[in-house]
Amino acid sequence: MEKIVNTSKSVHDKIFYKMTKRLKTRDFKKVIDAGSGKTSASILLKYCPNAQVDAVIFPGDNRKKNPLENAIGSDRLEIMEADICKTVFRKKYDFCFVNLSLGEATRWGNSFEDLFHHIMDIKADYFLIEDVFEDPCVHFRYVEQYLKEKGFTILKKKKFKNPNPEHYPKNKYEKYKLEYTSKHFQTYLVKRNQDKD
Ligand SMILES: C[S@@+](CC[C@H](N)C(=O)[O-])C[C@H]1O[C@@H](n2cnc3c(N)ncnc32)[C@H](O)[C@@H]1O
Repeated sequence: MEKIVNTSKSVHDKIFYKMTKRLKTRDFKKVIDAGSGKTSASILLKYCPNAQVDAVIFPGDNRKKNPLENAIGSDRLEIMEADICKTVFRKKYDFCFVNLSLGEATRWGNSFEDLFHHIMDIKADYFLIEDVFEDPCVHFRYVEQYLKEKGFTILKKKKFKNPNPEHYPKNKYEKYKLEYTSKHFQTYLVKRNQDKD
């Protein structure tokens, strides 16, 4: 029996459902969680019940590794410790989930742009990008411009209210001195063009 976290009350579960309901997620065979954690990995295992899930975390990020190992028990989950900015993902994926990872780029020594470019280099047919709208480390205008320039199609763009806003004080990220409250999540469902491989 597979053990996953019950995410049915999580706003991220609702967002995933609403954003992907037109996709045949049950048919997906290979998916990747680019910046993983027990919530996003469990959502993928739940909505993609026939897929192998590659869960990528930054090397040594035990905040995420330990809960992934302890809260989830599934043969379909593979935890991969790799810096996305230094890794070439050769596999092809049906889907890539990018849930709250972009805001952590600078925490692990990468620039926002570098992490975003490397994520979009992953050979996935579809991407769901979700991050905190108010996070000063996440440049949504840049995201949209890059996607258009590189020929990706934004199938759906939607802003969701965060039912549990959190206040992040100035010192959360050493290199970032602004404070903010996470009131909304900005999301994009993106399709990769066939001729990009
Ligand atoms: C806020 S957590 C994501 C939470 C998770 N998606 C969830 O919903 O449970 C950010 C994740 O991004 C990962 N991350 C950030 N920069 C990364 C990088 N350059 N390479 C690999 N993982 C990275 C962190 O290790 C962490 O797993």
